[in-house]
Amino acid sequence: MGKALEGVRILDFTHVQSGPTCTQLLAWFGADVIKVERAGEGDATRGQLRDIAGVDSLYFTMLNHNKRSMTLDAKRPAGKEVLETLIKQCDVLVENFAPGALDRMGFSWERIQELNPRMIVASVKGFGPGPYEHCKVYENVAQCTGGAAATTGFDDGPPLVSGAQIGDSGSGLHLALGIVTALYQRNTTGRGQKVLTSMQDAVLNLCRVKLRDQQRLERNGVMEEYPQFAGGQFGESVPRAGNAFGGGQPGWILKCKGWENDPNAYIYFIAQAQVWPSVCKLIGREEWITDPEYATPKARLPRLMSIFATVEEWSTTLTKFEAMDILNKYDIPCGPILSMKEIAEEPSLRATGTIVEVDHPERGPYLSVGNPIKLSDSPTEVRRSPLLGEHTDEVLADLGYSREQIALLREERVI
Ligand code: COA
Repeated sequence: MGKALEGVRILDFTHVQSGPTCTQLLAWFGADVIKVERAGEGDATRGQLRDIAGVDSLYFTMLNHNKRSMTLDAKRPAGKEVLETLIKQCDVLVENFAPGALDRMGFSWERIQELNPRMIVASVKGFGPGPYEHCKVYENVAQCTGGAAATTGFDDGPPLVSGAQIGDSGSGLHLALGIVTALYQRNTTGRGQKVLTSMQDAVLNLCRVKLRDQQRLERNGVMEEYPQFAGGQFGESVPRAGNAFGGGQPGWILKCKGWENDPNAYIYFIAQAQVWPSVCKLIGREEWITDPEYATPKARLPRLMSIFATVEEWSTTLTKFEAMDILNKYDIPCGPILSMKEIAEEPSLRATGTIVEVDHPERGPYLSVGNPIKLSDSPTEVRRSPLLGEHTDEVLADLGYSREQIALLREERVI
């Protein structure tokens, strides 16, 4: 059995994080991803946040597995010719340049269609059409303009960005789905189409529950599961909810044994209605099972924070893993706060290929996140990221260029 996307050839004109996340996924599913980079520097992330002098950074290596790299100056006439050949022979062009860069290079949608009407052109941009469409955007700009920062953090603190790269990697995921959908539609139409993911849209899509809450707030003036409900005040827009749960079951982060010295000695605890009697028994408050002030989810809403404080008296007597074991015995939903060190060392994540150790000729072995999407008939083997221009000659030969032609392109510094 081959790989799911075997036979699909991708012209990968992406850089930094959002676009590379997308093309890495497609490569993991078996597409032939040809990363086109400028000679010399290549993708700027090769040199950013380096931990070893002169060696491709982890930023780059962890976002560009399973790809081939070729160098090309796409602004020079001979480079444009190579790009035209690539466009004719690829199925998808993926790019996340600043708005208008591809047009300025001479490759408008119309021109690409002339060259290859089956080509899918997939782009990440900071914003969709509108007042900000010409802006350059990085991760945190998207988190701030997509609703994430305004709704993350605590009520008495400033907006916060998340450690999860929902703007970049989130956009890349959305774009990958758009591409495979367009490939699927091409089977019946025979035509390519444009696929656009705006980073603001991707973040907003992931903040969907906050737009839900905005409308609930406008209708009712309060939201009972928010910490502000007990004594605080609501304004006009969804407030920051601290660690409140975004669904219909209340939850909070509680301290566990050792929290004074360990920043991650905490557990997320969910007071799911179905298991309320078990919670009461466990924390020694059996009277709460029948007490009308605590017996129903509605009665508990105004006193959630004091309930969590009482559960915390119990959880601080246990390590986060002991608390997890005990709560799970009673089917009480919870999750320890795992540090990145604990995650990196977790054997079950290694066993499933979610954390992989990859070898690299210049940096040696390093850890990466493998493919989080598991296909039973198309398993992922994670192969190291390419060195800059490692496959230039190979790709050009695949495209039909002779040795002499390749030598000439090199002499003219086009590759
Ligand atoms: N040959 C010749 N020129 C090339 C080239 C190649 N192989 N690869 C890139 N270039 C050129 C581009 O054509 C562009 O030229 P132009 O400005 O004359 O049109 C230039 O390099 C710079 O590209 P740009 O995308 O503007 O890079 P930047 O470093 O200035 O901006 C971003 C970086 C990420 C802010 C910007 O690309 C952007 O907003 N992208 C869309 C949103 C996005 O994906 N952001 C998240 C990144 S994780």
